[in-house]
Amino acid sequence: MEHTELLQKIPEPLLRWYDAGARVLPWRENPEPYRVWVSEIMLQQTRVEAVKPYYERFLTALPTVRDLAEAPEEQLLKLWEGLGYYNRVRNLQKGARAVMERFGGQIPASFEDLRSLPGIGDYTAGAIASIAFGIRRPAVDGNVLRVVSRLLCSRDDILDPKVKRDTEAAVTRILPERVGDFNQSLMELGAMVCLPNGAPKCLTCPLREICLGYASGEAASLPVKAPKKARSQTARTLILLFCGEKAALQKRPGKGLLAGMWEPPAAEGTLSQQETRAYLEGLGVRVLRMDPLPPSRHIFTHTEWRMSAWRAETDAEAGPFTWAEPAQLRGEYALPSAFKAYLPYLLRE
Ligand code: ADE
Repeated sequence: MEHTELLQKIPEPLLRWYDAGARVLPWRENPEPYRVWVSEIMLQQTRVEAVKPYYERFLTALPTVRDLAEAPEEQLLKLWEGLGYYNRVRNLQKGARAVMERFGGQIPASFEDLRSLPGIGDYTAGAIASIAFGIRRPAVDGNVLRVVSRLLCSRDDILDPKVKRDTEAAVTRILPERVGDFNQSLMELGAMVCLPNGAPKCLTCPLREICLGYASGEAASLPVKAPKKARSQTARTLILLFCGEKAALQKRPGKGLLAGMWEPPAAEGTLSQQETRAYLEGLGVRVLRMDPLPPSRHIFTHTEWRMSAWRAETDAEAGPFTWAEPAQLRGEYALPSAFKAYLPYLLRE
């Protein structure tokens, strides 16, 4: 296969480049299986720079698989607060419990066993197997798909599962001895050089000479992705409701978007001042004062929130709410980043 011939030229220059200047990252310094697992879950859909401050804090709080398996959900969500995609940490814990129950607390050194754990798909199983155990498996995520489709100047749709399978097969054929480093060097190239959204830095790329996308001038316009369904939009009215120092919070339902996380009282739709007042009074809350706050929006994978907001004061801890002191808001209750614009008001900063 001609692809194999071209791809076979990758490992040598790519590993040389990786050895010369790859970022020093905590899970690379000490690729112990548990550390690699946590890093790969945090790095799903999240940039390295955003992950860094969370990573060491998480491992200090929960240094072993057993600690993770036994952690209370509130602690997990607090450690993950702001990283988004909170089901990742719930599944991570389910995985840790499965490791305790099925593998005696030892993370298994086998691709298939790793793949069988909750929250671990082909990519993550390949990454842990190769980085932590040196097992010959590829780790193909969106970044690697982008790199490979540019190298081969392929116009195949990278969201098509068959394209992903073919790429995994192609990368498997060319895996060198240092498989963990090689997989990470492909990720590193995708993160530092072969950048998405039409912005590859081809002039600094160690693979420029063999890249068909570069040769044909098409690298920047690859990869091809079929257009996605439009996101739905949801209008919400948030109410930062205070009784003295304390702020009202409510817990989100156990299933669905931001399951189990805390949020300020909120009503569906964009409510006027009068409507917001009526909403609170309907919940038994007497409103002493109300002031508008700036609107904000937050984009999730499948939906977008358009938030309007009010700051309100009351004189009794009424209504179906939990009342939190500022210190508890900081230390105990996990508030998702969707409310980031309102945190300074909530914390009275
Ligand atoms: N993205 C996902 N896994 C990664 C890793 N091990 N190093 C850098 N970026 C990554």
